[in-house]
Amino acid sequence: MIRAFHSFPRGFLWGTATASHQVEGDNRGNDWWRWEQEPGHIAHGHRSGLACDWWGGRWQEDFDRAAADGQNAHRLSIEWSRLEPEPGRWDSAALETYRTILQGARDRGLVPIVTLHHFTNPAWLADAGGWLEPAAAERFTSFVRRAVGALQDLVDTWITINEPNAYAYAAYTAGAFPPGERDLRKGLSVMRTLIRAHAMAYHAIHEIQPHAQVGLAHNYRGMEAAHAWNPVERALASLRSSIYNDRIPQAVHDGRLRFPLGGETLEQAARTQDFLGLNYYTAETVTLDLRARSELFGRSGFPPGSDVSPTGFIANRPAGFWRALVWARRFRLPILIAENGIEDETDRLRPRYLAAHLRQLWRAVNFNWNVRGYLHWTLVDSFEWERGWTQRFGLWSLDPDTQARGRRPSADLYAEICKANGLSSEMVAAHAPEALESLFPRTGRGEVTFEPPA
Ligand code: FCB
Repeated sequence: MIRAFHSFPRGFLWGTATASHQVEGDNRGNDWWRWEQEPGHIAHGHRSGLACDWWGGRWQEDFDRAAADGQNAHRLSIEWSRLEPEPGRWDSAALETYRTILQGARDRGLVPIVTLHHFTNPAWLADAGGWLEPAAAERFTSFVRRAVGALQDLVDTWITINEPNAYAYAAYTAGAFPPGERDLRKGLSVMRTLIRAHAMAYHAIHEIQPHAQVGLAHNYRGMEAAHAWNPVERALASLRSSIYNDRIPQAVHDGRLRFPLGGETLEQAARTQDFLGLNYYTAETVTLDLRARSELFGRSGFPPGSDVSPTGFIANRPAGFWRALVWARRFRLPILIAENGIEDETDRLRPRYLAAHLRQLWRAVNFNWNVRGYLHWTLVDSFEWERGWTQRFGLWSLDPDTQARGRRPSADLYAEICKANGLSSEMVAAHAPEALESLFPRTGRGEVTFEPPA
């Protein structure tokens, strides 16, 4: 067996990522809670309920687990509707709870990275038109000022908005998230408001905390033609990718929002990232389908024979992660992997997914690309939005009825990686032996492609 160790830079951040509504439980003041109560919205009528009961205090045992396993960072989000339950009314008890949680992370050696918007909105904002109302950007900024002002002694890395592209698409074009709109034009208009909100929040945070590191978490989804010989399909895949993957990052880079039929300048948005947060899960194929109008006439899928997760949500495509990294590098910013993971209740696939993706990340690090950290999605199984509890992304399992946690084998592998600050062939041999040959090939065999740095 070949022996090798892929080491990561000193001070590299290793952690997991979570989001308030998915873990806290009893989160009654937002649009998601309400959405879950209405039949037909969530798989099997599942509800977030107590979730992982972090609001009840179980963040402590979960942070203990993360810290004992060598993690040194944790990304969590704070819930706007808890801090501002009614417009302009601030809940000091909720703020104290977040201070305790953030202090608890720091006490355990976990650097907190805090997201300010992760898919949920106060119910009052939703009632006032949600993100279809341009004024949502101003409302959000006033919440951000308050939150950052009160937490700046505990946090210096902020993610303003999680996956604005995925959020605008799911809530306003695909109808899967509240408010369940299905209109491409509404999705594009919400994207614009989210960019304004991010830009305003970026400037507000820097006014309050000049040394803060502020960014977005971009969802990058690889998209390629299902039939590479078909030029129409290739053009379609590239159009979809450019709208989904490129518009927002480009706008917060140079202040230009380019849409298929025209564009505009959002001067204030230019250069509003101190780092680039990258969420990568999978890469899809696009098949021409004239019936899929709201999807720009393309149907998503995976290449035949893909290594696919139990509910068919994610295919294990590490080469797509490499392409996402090459894409991210064009912005010449430090990169933080803010999410990466797979739903896999039995943990059959997760060890090889994890090892294969970290190997791609190591390639970037090995070229001295400025990658600051890797946050695995997620620590403990949590409420997966419209997919409810059908998808299990945790290094630890959760029984939401009893709150019992169970350690998955992947938690052992990730702990070894975090503690060693790298990935070794021995780890792969022990935890994902089927992937050994492709990840650590013997000379002349396995993966021998070389792509120079872009
Ligand atoms: C991402 C979301 C996160 C989680 C993972 C599986 O798009 O940011 O909340 O649901 O997918």
